[in-house]
Amino acid sequence: MITRDLKRLALVVGPLLVFLLLSASLWNSNTESLRSHVSGLLEKNRHPSLSDPQSTPKPPSLDNQTHTEIVSLSTADQKHFEVRFGEYVFNPNIIPDPVRDDTWFIVGQRWTDPKHRQQHEAAVSEQVGCAAQFINGVLMCIDQAARVLPYAPTTGDKCEGPISYFNMNVGPHDARVFYGPQKPYTTFGSNSGFTCFGQWIQDFRKLVNWEYELLTNMDFETGTELYRPAPFSAIEKNWFVFWDRDDQMYAHYDMFPNRAFAKLDSDGSVGPDLAPAVAAQDERCMARYLPKLPTDLESIHQATNSLKITMCNRSDALCTPDDSNTFIMSIIQHKTYYDWHSEYEPYVILFHQRAPYELYAISKNPIWIHGRRRHSDQRTEMFYITSINWKARGVKYHGYLDDDLFVAFGIEDKNSGAIDVRAAALLVDLGFCNEP
Ligand SMILES: *[C@@H]1O[C@H](CO)[C@@H](O)[C@H](O)[C@H]1NC(C)=O
Ligand SMILES: *[C@@H]1O[C@H](CO)[C@@H](O)[C@H](O)[C@H]1NC(C)=O
Repeated sequence: MITRDLKRLALVVGPLLVFLLLSASLWNSNTESLRSHVSGLLEKNRHPSLSDPQSTPKPPSLDNQTHTEIVSLSTADQKHFEVRFGEYVFNPNIIPDPVRDDTWFIVGQRWTDPKHRQQHEAAVSEQVGCAAQFINGVLMCIDQAARVLPYAPTTGDKCEGPISYFNMNVGPHDARVFYGPQKPYTTFGSNSGFTCFGQWIQDFRKLVNWEYELLTNMDFETGTELYRPAPFSAIEKNWFVFWDRDDQMYAHYDMFPNRAFAKLDSDGSVGPDLAPAVAAQDERCMARYLPKLPTDLESIHQATNSLKITMCNRSDALCTPDDSNTFIMSIIQHKTYYDWHSEYEPYVILFHQRAPYELYAISKNPIWIHGRRRHSDQRTEMFYITSINWKARGVKYHGYLDDDLFVAFGIEDKNSGAIDVRAAALLVDLGFCNEP
């Protein structure tokens, strides 16, 4: 009796299992190749000569590469934790709620299955967010499901040739959410009035329910496109803004091989590129500490927003911020793109908060986030770090070595994770530009 039931069960379940396995593998390979194709196109703008990745040599094994590993301050196993929106969301940002303790705003990009989009149909991109707390070690939405944030769509029709389909884009891409000295901002990619795809900025409080604060700084109440000193690339990505010692605002466009940054006005217009004045020393420093790039399949580019850090402890009575100990911090990434799979190795960079804003230090080795997996084929999980933000409520742009921060990242362009570390842990292995 039992045997016959089991046989019958096997007859029903067996084919179902085969079907499920088959569709899962089809589904995975399809989305992976589609996604890589799209991200390949997105990355191509600075490398028009990108050749067929299949025909190029294998990437260097990461086993031979030294990393500086960072571990979580709060999880039981010290690994990174999940940032859970209740659906597939990647490229997360986490900033503390201004009034509620142990509560953060989380924002990221909704993942959509490219397979489900019809040709010639608008590509709708959305940023979703919610208020979140830690529940059983996962940072997740509390009072509501993640909802679409009301970024205003922008228009532009300057996408030509192979990227003309970008004209059909609707909505914000790859938003960053971060605090400035007074208030939070968001930057995002969207259809540009100057080039194909540009970078925009807005006061983040306009997009969420934000407690009333009395502020004198009312810049960027509406979404504003940021300008850059020529030349524009067709697709501009990953710009960050920073504030100097006097809280003057700048836009930082490129890091490698040449930096580009300029003073920013509250209408999005900018002054001249300030990087040439420090190019010689910056390039010497980057050549010294960053990896050599053997092919077009590797690149180095900026990734996160910026923070200001004073390199002593907040708890130390003798610690007083000044130009000699206070720097702008951001994370850049060394990208490799072999076998249609992108991987990113992150480096911290510090530069001066006063003119001429030259580089101060770069991580000697890339950072390894504890919990990132290595696959049996030597490849590793794709973590794309999107944001760094102070963890404690009330700490906005400026922090100290003994402050904790969140490093948040997309996982394989589909999921979100983050790790909380003391700032000092990110800065343990710095190569200084002026070291003899
Ligand atoms: C690099 O790693 C591979 C395998 O993990 C090993 O066979 C090789 O000897 C290593 N090379 C060096 C220079 O350490
Ligand atoms: C900062 O404080 C930590 C303890 O939180 C201590 O281990 C470290 O040595 C201090 N660093 C400096 C530069 O004083």
